[in-house]
Amino acid sequence: MHLSQVQVSGYRNLIAQSIELSEGVNLFVGNNGQGKTNILEAVHFLSSLRSFRAAAVRDVIAHGEDVAQLGAKVLDDGLPTELKLILGGSGRRLWLGQRSISNVREYLGQFKVVAFTPDDLAMVKAGPALRRRFLDRAVFLFSPAHLTRVRQFQTALRSRNSLLKQRKKADLAVIDSFSQKMAEYGAEVSRARCDFVRRIEPRAAAILAEMEETSPRLDLRFKAGWQAGEDLSQADLYQDLCDSLDRDLLRKQTSHGPQQDDFEISLAGESARRFASQGQQRSCVVALLLAVVELADAELGLHPVILLDDVSSELDPDRRQQLLGLVSKLGSQLLITTTDEGLVGDMAGQVNRRFRVYAGRVDPL
Ligand SMILES: Nc1ncnc2c1ncn2[C@@H]1O[C@H](COP(=O)(O)OP(=O)(O)OP(=O)(O)O)[C@@H](O)[C@H]1O
Ligand SMILES: [Mg+2]
Repeated sequence: MHLSQVQVSGYRNLIAQSIELSEGVNLFVGNNGQGKTNILEAVHFLSSLRSFRAAAVRDVIAHGEDVAQLGAKVLDDGLPTELKLILGGSGRRLWLGQRSISNVREYLGQFKVVAFTPDDLAMVKAGPALRRRFLDRAVFLFSPAHLTRVRQFQTALRSRNSLLKQRKKADLAVIDSFSQKMAEYGAEVSRARCDFVRRIEPRAAAILAEMEETSPRLDLRFKAGWQAGEDLSQADLYQDLCDSLDRDLLRKQTSHGPQQDDFEISLAGESARRFASQGQQRSCVVALLLAVVELADAELGLHPVILLDDVSSELDPDRRQQLLGLVSKLGSQLLITTTDEGLVGDMAGQVNRRFRVYAGRVDPL
């Protein structure tokens, strides 16, 4: 499965155009601010109906336009599927071929993407929010319903927090009803994250060992942001929310819950966040991301399209070489951006199609 064509119109700074992609490695070269990331973001949007930059829909619509329109042609064993997406105006509209789609789940899953950005490379060192985002995106790849669950949980959490801020005794029953909802959706969210960490660990460890012969053993451990037993049950989450209510009323926010979930990355049993070098930390992230791609192949039998945004400049030459080498072995279609073609020079022989990106215009070279 691969993308053979992407169409954009009214999206960020990109001019209205159609881009013909190769099944293999597609390289987008251009100076800062020309639109390279925007292309990858548009592809990510087409796949998952969201940006990888945590942007709102109005941010991606070109300034001065009312709507953005994206389209893709996906080829699966030679069979074409056309996707179309209009953002803005009267909301979001989706098409598969000529058919207007109202069920998002039917739309999602036509083609899957895994994005690597410089932000991801900071995942080990950064706060837990980035690691949760990584987990949620990865889980979403395997089960799109996860995103719905996360949103339902967040809605309940926001409602509970806003009542805690108002702090009226009479609201206790209402607070409790939101605690129940948080527990219902949240326990499922935490379980999915925890399960995913378990599934990915052996693969990530094996990839890291392959990348760096001398690398210490990689371990991953999910840490629930609440008093969870082994089974991460809804009942335990609800209990924890009840037990923390007095403190939450004082602090005016929900202290425990899946919004505090995290996972620990360690090398030879020591926290990578605290002890690993910057280069080792980045290698851990590369191993995690590649493990996601491998798992998609093993569990879903598909090769997600890999989006590599400008990561070359963040890695030293050896790690860059390893990343590009490993990625090109995965058999996925690859869209990679760089300001400096020299940085991906080592894989230059493998690049199937090159594009120059200039002022929102993408020209094949
Ligand atoms: N909604 C929008 N409408 C019009 N232009 C936008 C919009 N959002 C962002 N831009 C512009 O898009 C331009 C290109 O952004 P993009 O992030 O794709 O650049 P890039 O080529 O990846 O650069 P870099 O190498 O610095 O990462 C920026 O100059 C930005 O101002
Ligand atoms: Mg960029």
